Amino acid sequence: MIVTVASFKGGVGKTTTALHLAAYCQTLAPTLLVDGDLNRSALDWAKRGNLPFKVVDEKAAVKFVRNYEHIIVDTPARPNLEELKTTATGCDLLVLPTSPDALAMGALLQVLTALKTLEANYKILLTIVPPPPSRTGIEARESLIAANLPVFKASIRRFSVFQRAALEGVSVNQVKNDSKSGIAWRCYSMVGEEIMS
Ligand SMILES: Nc1ncnc2c1ncn2[C@@H]1O[C@H](COP(=O)(O)OP(=O)(O)OP(=O)(O)O)[C@@H](O)[C@H]1O
Ligand SMILES: [Mg+2]
Repeated sequence: MIVTVASFKGGVGKTTTALHLAAYCQTLAPTLLVDGDLNRSALDWAKRGNLPFKVVDEKAAVKFVRNYEHIIVDTPARPNLEELKTTATGCDLLVLPTSPDALAMGALLQVLTALKTLEANYKILLTIVPPPPSRTGIEARESLIAANLPVFKASIRRFSVFQRAALEGVSVNQVKNDSKSGIAWRCYSMVGEEIMS
């Protein structure tokens, strides 16, 4: 299975998503995370700590892919149309993370317009969703469903433990002494289950 994570807008949780989907897939079979972003956030994350799967850049990936069952690819924000097309056609599933705010949702619509002409298999993931009483997450989901768009049943809630995980170079389930690490991990493992089911 090749899963690519992409978005037009920066900072919507692509790298966090790619990394945690890789952590989930690794619990099932050998998984490779390919860092396709020149800012190398995923590789830096891996270098800071200790991840249970291998992370390589896209050039090295060519050599490694045959040894892995699942490949997760992190990509840069603001891809041009051509890049997006190559990305979309080169994977089994394109995961499109978006935070539920108006700016990110607007950028998502741009991606969807670009994807319309392609036979891409994609699914939208709501990320960095603020806790109640905010209703932005619920409203964003309702508007996506009303537009008949494929959206993951699970949303990724906004938890500071995700930032801690990045700092410590681990996945959230490995963060110690944070009461939210379990529920934060559950968000991504539910997405992983949806992908693999
Ligand atoms: N669910 C979440 N809850 C809280 N913070 C989060 C969550 N997901 C991501 N973040 C934080 O938001 C910031 C951006 O996340 P991330 O780097 O994953 O986004 P990105 O889309 O890969 O960004 P870029 O476009 O720069 O590559 C980081 O500081 C990250 O720790
Ligand atoms: Mg990133």
